[in-house]
Amino acid sequence: MQTKNTMALLGLLTLLLCELMTVVNSNRIEALRIMDGTPVIDGHNDLPWQLLSKFNNQLNKADLFTLNDTHTNIPKLIEGRVGGQFWAAYVPCDTQGKDAVKRTLEQIDVIHRMCEKYPANFQCVDSTAGIAEAIRNKKVASLIGVEGGHSMDSNLGVLRTFYHLGVRYMTLTHSCNVPWVDNWLVDTGSDPPKSNGLSEFGKKVILEMNRLGMIVDLAHVSEKTMRDALEVSQAPVIFSHSSAFKLCNNARNVKDDVLQIVKAKKGLVMVNFYNNYVTCGNSANLSDVADHFDHIKRIAGYESVGFGGDYDGVPRVPKGLEDVSKYPDLVAELLRRGWTQTELEAALASNLLRVFKEVEETSNRMHSLQPVDEPIHYEEIKGDCRTSYGYNIETGSAVLPHVGKGLLLVCLFYALFL
Ligand SMILES: *[C@@H]1O[C@H](CO)[C@@H](O)[C@H](O)[C@H]1NC(C)=O
Ligand SMILES: *[C@@H]1O[C@H](CO)[C@@H](O)[C@H](O)[C@H]1NC(C)=O
Ligand SMILES: [Zn+2]
Repeated sequence: MQTKNTMALLGLLTLLLCELMTVVNSNRIEALRIMDGTPVIDGHNDLPWQLLSKFNNQLNKADLFTLNDTHTNIPKLIEGRVGGQFWAAYVPCDTQGKDAVKRTLEQIDVIHRMCEKYPANFQCVDSTAGIAEAIRNKKVASLIGVEGGHSMDSNLGVLRTFYHLGVRYMTLTHSCNVPWVDNWLVDTGSDPPKSNGLSEFGKKVILEMNRLGMIVDLAHVSEKTMRDALEVSQAPVIFSHSSAFKLCNNARNVKDDVLQIVKAKKGLVMVNFYNNYVTCGNSANLSDVADHFDHIKRIAGYESVGFGGDYDGVPRVPKGLEDVSKYPDLVAELLRRGWTQTELEAALASNLLRVFKEVEETSNRMHSLQPVDEPIHYEEIKGDCRTSYGYNIETGSAVLPHVGKGLLLVCLFYALFL
């Protein structure tokens, strides 16, 4: 009798387990079906930084098919149904005021060379039309995002040149203040406020980005900067890799009232998978990340949420989301939580495409405007690693180059005494 009961119980358990497996499996199959039609466009991946760190950008020495100590390689991208990726042209804050511009150019170059070396897998593009074409060609649409305003060295000529090189978003700061904009560490108290959000010059940078058609990215900025940029920008903005503050009160994440402004402005928050921004601890799992998707959808709507994994830019990623091959598992979990196909397609790709299109249209509308050419005040960028050419015309003898000053004195001497 007892054996019979045990047997029955075992049978029931097996049945339940099978049922569960089938549900899990069917969600995964459905996720793959959706992603085969609409592959993910992710907001932020730091593979270029890995190429610098591991190979000093010698792509000849790197094999992106067999690379196995990174979150990203070509087989994983294919398995993960990645259709588009903003590759970060990231250089650390300690380059600020030194070789930031050169270092950034070097990272932009390595992204271009990655597309050239693997033409069957990557297609470098710089427009919504380009993204669609690359996806049709079954390649990863490869876009460039510059991570941190320090990269443009407070110079609008450099910003415009970045645009010409294909850069389509700039994160206003990384983890340091820039002469014209404050970063998130201001909100933790570890950096002093400087511009209190965006300075007047900072607002001009935003408008020039709008005019060019470069997306404004607010990951890494202070809360006041978020609010200023959301107010000033003529086009929707993104957070390329940030999560929900309500679930993890880290200043890198986005507060609910800011999420509501993002919704009103038709912008986009692309969820960061970094454990410490997901749970505020060192460990996290796929389900914790799904909570951020649910929360942002609840507050800002499904049209304002996206994927911004931050792969290869962080030391810890959640259990179940170990590398870029795992996006379908997250989509399966969202299906389990009741997300519809329409909502998932929005989060995977169409939200980003909508924002980018809006940015392109804003640029077209602003096309007749002259480029902003008023430079930042010299005092803001004065330093040993910069010359002052140009500024002597506008700011008078106080900033004349050394030789110029000497020459002026000689002239003065002659004028007075000869
Ligand atoms: C990773 O790649 C290196 C270099 O190609 C190789 O020596 C190593 O065996 C690989 N490791 C694994 C776990 O595949
Ligand atoms: C994920 O982690 C949370 C705690 O953050 C835990 O409650 C949950 O059971 C975990 N889920 C899975 C599927 O491991
Ligand atoms: Zn970052």
